[in-house]
This record gives sequence, structure tokens and C-alpha cells, in this order.
Amino acid sequence: MPLDDKILELEEKMKKLFLGGGEKAIAKQKSSGKLTARERIVAILDEGSFHEYDIFVEHSCNDFGMQDKEFAGDGVIIGTGTVHGKPIAIFAQDFTVAGGSLGFMHASKITKIMDYALNMQIPLIGINDSGGARIQEGVNALAGYGEIFYRNTLASGVIPQISVILGPCAGGAVYSPALTDFVFVVDNISKMFITGSEVIKTVLGEEISMEELGGAKVHSELTGNAHFFAESEQQCFEQIRALIAMIPQNNREKAEAVAPVKPGKKYKISEVVPTDPTVPYDVRQVIHTLVDKGEFIEVMEKFAGNIVIGFGRINGETVGFVANQPLVLAGVLDCDSSDKAARFIRYCDSFNIPIVTLEDLPGYLPGIDQEHAGVIRHGAKMLYAYSEATVPKITVILRKAYGGGYIAMNSRHLRADFVFAWPNAEIAVMGPEGAANIIFRKDILEAEDPAKMREQKIQEYKDKFANPYVAAAKGYIDAVITPEDTLKNIAHALSVSKNKSVIRPEKKHGIPPF
Ligand code: HXC
Repeated sequence: MPLDDKILELEEKMKKLFLGGGEKAIAKQKSSGKLTARERIVAILDEGSFHEYDIFVEHSCNDFGMQDKEFAGDGVIIGTGTVHGKPIAIFAQDFTVAGGSLGFMHASKITKIMDYALNMQIPLIGINDSGGARIQEGVNALAGYGEIFYRNTLASGVIPQISVILGPCAGGAVYSPALTDFVFVVDNISKMFITGSEVIKTVLGEEISMEELGGAKVHSELTGNAHFFAESEQQCFEQIRALIAMIPQNNREKAEAVAPVKPGKKYKISEVVPTDPTVPYDVRQVIHTLVDKGEFIEVMEKFAGNIVIGFGRINGETVGFVANQPLVLAGVLDCDSSDKAARFIRYCDSFNIPIVTLEDLPGYLPGIDQEHAGVIRHGAKMLYAYSEATVPKITVILRKAYGGGYIAMNSRHLRADFVFAWPNAEIAVMGPEGAANIIFRKDILEAEDPAKMREQKIQEYKDKFANPYVAAAKGYIDAVITPEDTLKNIAHALSVSKNKSVIRPEKKHGIPPF
């Protein structure tokens, strides 16, 4: 056959394969408000940059009449491309082909692109839209998942791994996204659960919709499984592109620096934080005044709002922020906020991103609920993550730093490189009211006017400890600075820590309180 005819033959084959599960299945996909797998890849990557591999792969199952079935590309598309000109590996499950179910060859395609990503040291994006393990393939499908989970773990902390849930992600399939760094979900489209509604109905007799069980809001607000929530697929793709611009390609590189831009002007730092330590404010407004253009990519915005985490740039360079949020639960640390912050600190540390900590908290949340939920174990994750991190670590105490919160929020004792405090900062074992009630209990009880005595003792305690100078006298704080000088001090600290190098005892790995 002449080459021209062979090219025509190739084009015909490709045309058929591009149709995935066929026009009817594509129409069904569209009618449920979803894009096709190929459209999703094209929308995320730079225009014209996608190169697809393994389009001719066929499934390898001969049971349950499968030998007569053709599954285009075995229900998953893999390839490489670029985002902002930087190389990326990507896969997208194609729900129009056998419900995007994962058979042995489907899994082999995913593991092939995962191996490329790891070998080439480039980020991996995985788009999940699948009914889970292909039921007809039995243990071969389960083996496929195991191979994926193993690679997710090997790649963890080496290359960024991004999961996008754009349809069902059912059964054991959820564990690949759970092992990756960032999970993106879209309202009304993403559904993530271990056990589906049908099984729950059979086993427990309960009627529950997939949305209630594991929709986008559930995972962004309640479970903490998702890191980014979007209203539409298009918004989700923009979020992914913005995140990739902020982070490095692998753990041997630093995030790409861009031209510095002036920080946000919407708020004045000295006016954001009220001097009364009991009055709440939105710490995101403080961050706005510190980062270039006021642009801040908040991670897990809707989960454990008492701590704010995310990325911004200072003088054109990426920084990770960890900030108590006085607007929610007075900014206390609890089980969820500790988990949220600890994981983010480890991400920043793995990928050479300096951490700026903004501190204003009354301590860990007291109460039986938290104690029984394991606040000791969860809270310890913060201590572990900060102590372990060797990237530049800078803390600014904006107002309160009480008790365990003072230590946990990147104190000098966990090896902060620089600790700054505003003049109205209060550093103490606990708030003056609580402290006076305990240590001056007898004086208050025996006083002629207990209320007056209590006030007097609170003031006494405040005068002694509710200021930054006791800590500064010990060198626990490097400098007491004005709010207006905060950015200047952080920027200088970042610039002098560029070549920070810390030697740690040799070990295989630590045993964090997972
Ligand atoms: C084989 C599957 C499939 C699967 C869907 N399909 N899931 N084929 N194995 N797991 C096929 C359907 O038969 C159908 O084929 C097509 O995909 C589209 O599915 P529909 O059911 O028509 O779509 P929809 O109504 O949108 O429902 C989607 C769904 C539902 C909610 C995902 O299909 C579903 O509940 N599937 C099973 C989910 C599940 O329990 N998976 C196994 C989990 S256990 P036709 O030919 O009719 O178009 C697991 C263990 C892994 O994953 C453990 C790893 C550690």
C-alpha cells in the first residue's frame, strides 16, 4: 500500500478512536454538563501543546463477552504537553468508554505516564471520571490500582501531583487522589466515595444521593479531601493553571520567579488588625498587603477556616503562608486546622517554598470533643511539620501567641529562622483572664471585693507578660517591628535565607503522628 493510503488509513483509525465511546455516549456526557476527556486536556494545556500516546492500546480481558468489545484507548487518554510553557504529564479517564472503568491496560497506560512524569521530573495531572475497578476484569483491575497507588507514593514529594475529580471517583479509586498533593473538585460534577449509594441502600437500608455522600461541597467543606472548589470545569482549569505557575516542577528546583510587582493596596496593614485582642479580623487582608499584586492562591479555603494556607509571591518569588484566622473560632488550632496546616507545611518543605507564618491565636481548642477526636495526635502534626521543615521559616506575631499555640506556630524553639513581633503582641502561657483566675485564685477569693481584685490581678499579669519584650529579652523574638515594616522585614529575611542549608541526623524517615 502506498504511504499516502497508509496515512489515510491512520487518519480513519484516529477519527474512530477520537470518538471514544461513540456519539451517543458523548451526547450523554455533555447532557450531564461534562466536557469530554480530550476537551478537558486541551482546556488545561497550552494551545496545541498536547501529544497523545497509546491511543491504539486495547483491553486484554476475554471474560464476560469482553472479547467482542472494543474500548477506544481502553477508556483513558494519556500524554504530555505544557502549561505556561512548562512540561506536564497528564491522563484523563474517558467516561464515554465503559464508564471510564479501570481495567488492566487502562491502568498500564496511567502507570506509563506516571513513570514518564517521575523520570522526566515534571508535574502529573490526573483527571478522574470513572466507575472504578472494571468489574469484568476482577483482580487484574485491583492490581492496576495497586500499581498506581505505589507510584503515587514514590512520586510524593518529588514531583507535584494534581488530581481533578470530574465525575464519579468510586471505590478504591479515591485513594489515588488522596495520595496526591492537590485535589480539585467541581460543583455538581465531582462525586467521590468509597461505597456507592446502591451498596449503602442494600447494606444499611438508607437512601442517600451521590451528591450528599461525596459531592464537591462535602469534600471541600467537611472531609478536607479536596483542596480547590470550582463552580465550573472552566474555572477549575484556570485554578490548575494558576497553581502550576506558582509551584516548582520538581523537588530539585525552586518555583520560577517572576518580575516583582507592588503588594495589594486594598487594605492598610496597620488598620486591619484591631488592637483589642478579642476583636476578630480577616487575616487574608493582612496577607493581601504583603503579596505581590495582592494575589493569594488560598488552598482548602472552605475547610477548617480557623487557619488560612496558600501561596503568594513576595518580590516575585513564591512563598507559602500559614496564618491563624481570628475570624473563625478566634483562630484556635484544632484537629482539622492542624491537619490542614501540617500537610501544607510539608508540601512547602518538599518543594523548596519558604514559609511565612502569621500568628494570632488563643491556643489549642479546649473541650471533650476535641480531646476525644484526638487533638493531641493531630496537634502534634503541626509541631512535627514545622520542626522537620528546613526551608526558610519566618514568623510574625501579630497579636496573641498563647500557650501551645505559641510553640506550634513556628516558634524559635521549632527552629524558625526569623521571629518578628508587633509592639502589641502578647506572648504568654494563656490569656491574662485565665491566668489570673488560676494563679491568683486565693487572693481573689479572699479579697473584700473579689471582682476588683480580679481586675487588678489581670492587669498585673498583663503588665508582666502580655507584651513581646519578655520573649524578646530571651532572644526568642528577633525584633519588635511596626506593622508598616512587616513586609520590609519579611522580604529581607527571605533574601538573606536564599542559600539556607541545614544538616539533619541521618535516618530512613521519621515517624510523624499520622
Ligand atoms: C465496568 C462499568 C463500571 C465498572 C460503569 N460501567 N462502572 N463497567 N466496571 N466499574 C459501565 C456501565 O456498565 C455502563 O456501560 C457505562 O459504564 C456507563 O455507566 P452507567 O451506569 O450507565 O452511568 P451512570 O448512570 O452515570 O452511573 C455511573 C456510576 C455507576 C455511578 C459510576 O456506573 C456505578 O455505580 N458504577 C459502579 C461503581 C462501583 O461500584 N465500582 C466498583 C468500585 S469497587 P454501558 O455498556 O451500559 O454503557 C472498586 C475497587 C477498587 O473500585 C479497589 C482498589 C483498591
